[in-house]
Amino acid sequence: MKKKLYIETYGCQMNVADSEVVASVMAERNFEISDNQEEADVVLVNTCSVRDNAEKRVWGRLRELNALKKSNKELKLGLIGCMAERIGDEMLEDKVVDIVAGPDAYRNLPYLYDKSIEGEDAINVELTIDETYDSIIPKRMNEGISGFVSITRGCNNFCTYCIVPYTRGRERSRDPKDILAEVRDMVKNGYKEVTLLGQNVDSYKWMPEGTTKPVRFHHLLELVAQESPTLRVRFSTPHPKDIKESVVKMIAKYPNICKHIHLPIQAGNDEVLKRMNRRYTVEWYQNRVEMIRKHIPECSITTDVFCGFCGETEEQFQGTLDMMKWVHYDTAFMFKYSERPGTYAAKKLEDDISEEVKGERLTRMIQLQSSLSIESNQSDIGKVVEVLVEKLSKKSSDELCGRSSQNKLVVFPKKDAQIGDYVRVKIERCTQTTLIGEMIEKIDAPSF
Ligand code: 5AD
Ligand code: SF4
Repeated sequence: MKKKLYIETYGCQMNVADSEVVASVMAERNFEISDNQEEADVVLVNTCSVRDNAEKRVWGRLRELNALKKSNKELKLGLIGCMAERIGDEMLEDKVVDIVAGPDAYRNLPYLYDKSIEGEDAINVELTIDETYDSIIPKRMNEGISGFVSITRGCNNFCTYCIVPYTRGRERSRDPKDILAEVRDMVKNGYKEVTLLGQNVDSYKWMPEGTTKPVRFHHLLELVAQESPTLRVRFSTPHPKDIKESVVKMIAKYPNICKHIHLPIQAGNDEVLKRMNRRYTVEWYQNRVEMIRKHIPECSITTDVFCGFCGETEEQFQGTLDMMKWVHYDTAFMFKYSERPGTYAAKKLEDDISEEVKGERLTRMIQLQSSLSIESNQSDIGKVVEVLVEKLSKKSSDELCGRSSQNKLVVFPKKDAQIGDYVRVKIERCTQTTLIGEMIEKIDAPSF
């Protein structure tokens, strides 16, 4: 009989993609995915270490799962992902979990499970320079419309605040052949959207054997876009220091590459950016935004930004607010700085901004972004946008929702449209987070 595996995923899109790799590895070894934790033989928690509150959430969840183990003595609890890499050894020692696998050790999970059954230590947190999970076709677990494919793993940037280079190791690119095989598999299974993932997609580079010309990110984008005109292509995340005009031109060239760039700014002051080791200036970032707008005036631009980094003065924080206004982001993910043990900032810079000031600055950022998002959505009223229908709207089963090319959430009355269709919607109203309109027509594929 097959054993049952329950996977829970926290953190970034990369973790969602990794959970699908894990599901595939386990499926080959007689496990089937279950959506019921009560009946599971093994529960794997795929975790994030990027901020302390992400880890706190996982700690809370592990306590609940340990309570579940009291009623199911056979249950094995596994910690995977970034927390496994960072503190998995301690958690195994303290018997908080039975299995620990870091981001490069997922092929090893069936073996680790067997070891845990035998009552032995089941841990692998080795980071490699070459694991990219090639030849594993991820087992998709979502609704079957939109999925992720990772194109690089790891990170070499070493932003001083960031734990990722330590938990995910050195950057490596995947063979375009494997990437395209995954994309083809998605198309075959009726998927309509793929998001290409990497910590810094612009540094994607693959040297095909016997050649001297590398495949770069813009080439890869083109190959994926050409795979099927009915497959929308997105990507995350570019780095402002590396994003190239060639990439932006490629987005402009193909109707099925979405007109949305998520360009993390992190801070809007040169001294702070230098302390963060971001390796660009405010002026450079502005120049990149102008370059994007020159080629794709309708492109939406979104960002990650955080306040309260070591030594951030009120004036420097104002620089961040000024930049948010200057770019006029469509949406933003906003955070308070959270010191991560082992990073350069934790070792060499003082976390000297009080929680109170961090909280107050975050509130101001969120307030500003709310008004920018509303203005951005209001400017869409009267426009026609192309939407990939993803699901029924939360509020009413007579309404559908999906995302525009600009990645905005769009809700509209159902009529004869179905999940998976491309439709044109005329926008009539909006809220801060949603565009609301009427469907005009169905279309076969993205067209602008
Ligand atoms: N504290 C707060 N935010 C962080 N991020 C990364 N590291 C930290 C940290 N130590 C944010 C950045 C990044 C996003 C994924 O999380 O904005 O782009
Ligand atoms: Fe993803 Fe970074 Fe969180 Fe790891 S630490 S899960 S790479 S966001």
